[in-house]
Amino acid sequence: MVVSARKEASKIGSDILKKGGNAFDAMIATELALAVVYPYAGNIGGGGFMVYRKYDGKTGCLDYREKAPLLATKSMYLDEEHNIIPEKSTLGAMAIGVPGTIAGIFAVHEKFGTLPIKEIFQPIINLANKGIVVTEKQAKQICSKQANFLKVNKDSILFSKKWTTNDTIVQTELGRTLTRIMQNGRDEFYKGETAKVLSSFIQDNGGIITEEDLAKYEAKWRTPITFEYDNLKIISMSPPSSGGICLAQIMKMIEPFDLHDFGHNALKTIQVITEAERRSYADRSFYLADPDFVDIPSLKLIDNTYLKMRMADFSFDKATRSNDVSHGNITIIESNETTHYSIIDQFGNAVSATTTLNGAYGSKLYCSRLGFFLNNEMDDFSSKPGVPNMFGLIGGDANSIASEKRMLSSMTPTIIEKDGSLFMVVGTPGGSTIITSVLQTILNVHEFGMTMQEAVNAPRFHHQWLPDEIRTEPNTFSTGLIKKLEQLGYNINPKHSPVIGKVDGILVLDDKTLEGGADYRGDDTAVGF
Ligand code: GLY
Repeated sequence: MVVSARKEASKIGSDILKKGGNAFDAMIATELALAVVYPYAGNIGGGGFMVYRKYDGKTGCLDYREKAPLLATKSMYLDEEHNIIPEKSTLGAMAIGVPGTIAGIFAVHEKFGTLPIKEIFQPIINLANKGIVVTEKQAKQICSKQANFLKVNKDSILFSKKWTTNDTIVQTELGRTLTRIMQNGRDEFYKGETAKVLSSFIQDNGGIITEEDLAKYEAKWRTPITFEYDNLKIISMSPPSSGGICLAQIMKMIEPFDLHDFGHNALKTIQVITEAERRSYADRSFYLADPDFVDIPSLKLIDNTYLKMRMADFSFDKATRSNDVSHGNITIIESNETTHYSIIDQFGNAVSATTTLNGAYGSKLYCSRLGFFLNNEMDDFSSKPGVPNMFGLIGGDANSIASEKRMLSSMTPTIIEKDGSLFMVVGTPGGSTIITSVLQTILNVHEFGMTMQEAVNAPRFHHQWLPDEIRTEPNTFSTGLIKKLEQLGYNINPKHSPVIGKVDGILVLDDKTLEGGADYRGDDTAVGF
């Protein structure tokens, strides 16, 4: 089964499985198909993370996150008075990190692929050339970014046309780029004609990415964060994503409380989860960054004694104030516009991958000659410690910009075992809300007995330390519940965004049966056989 943001991508991935390919072959196909059919977030101009669990129980993860260019500096988004220059890290060529997606899929193929690259790429090239049919939600997405497409690009681009529902968008240039990559391999993107065209395009538009940046890019195999919660073993992404560590912190902080008895989205459940989230996001801001540049005390941050101490001042009588919470002192005891897909194959291999351009259509800079959008991942660095990024996340010094460093992420592709067997594959887009959406989906199944689809559908809320507010999906919490939370000192913001996350998950029901959960908040679809 493959569950992704678009039916076409899930079907292409599932067809690869039907042909006898494994979950890793299907991962490559789904990732590329999303670049064609869902350019809002699917990409070859961005990056991502993949967590896997093989049929034999072996686990691992791949970091194909973007990197800061060689010419990047700590103060590149600041003016002479050290104020942030608006939009410089979010719009246009200066916002782009060195893309990692093509390196990622070839690293996966080299290690685990079973089908030839040509067999995996061809259906995607066919899709680009035949065209994709615009959905109602997609027409709205494209329409909402028109002004920025025109502002950022020198000429009109394919996506600056007024596309409406049921139109067909043919992407010939993207088809050509993918064909060259299929024929010449990974180096086509990083050292070949594509690299030359891409670097000179970025520089012509005022950016700093060079051919050397592309040539030096490598995806990295890393060790996932693993931890236990009741009889579950959770396997999630390690830094440079904050996802795994924050998920582990929050789950361990809430584990001593009986959420099952409190009830789903009940007052006490919301209080416990919110307070754990508040404390974890404060730690995120201080400690987490690219592990190749910063020493991250990962084990200490998810240590049970430390986390018990972090929750020691929690009381059901009154909200903690975020201003009174800082990062924990560990020395004492010693996006929205990302996309996720989940895959389980007929051999028992599982893949959980989250991929992104960061903002919707990334930097909005579209290379017409190559046929794809470039990311604005540089905004995930802290441009100025203490000042929020586009997700309102406050960054610390650890995540400041440096040449060749990877920016901190919240992406949380996750796989769960129950009593030693594969149980769930889950993940979501949503910027800073990714971690908490994954958390709630796991709890919905494990604590509240929901099916996969019910767990995905259930209304979500989010707290990220700063700003000090609980964000809720609009009209999902009763007035009475909101009033009680406010009386206890919580600030509620139901208007921050129309949806929180778009979760795609798969639940293993038994040896032969999988249940897909595809988020109704998008065009997400599960396809299996
Ligand atoms: N760009 C969103 C994230 O990586 O968290």
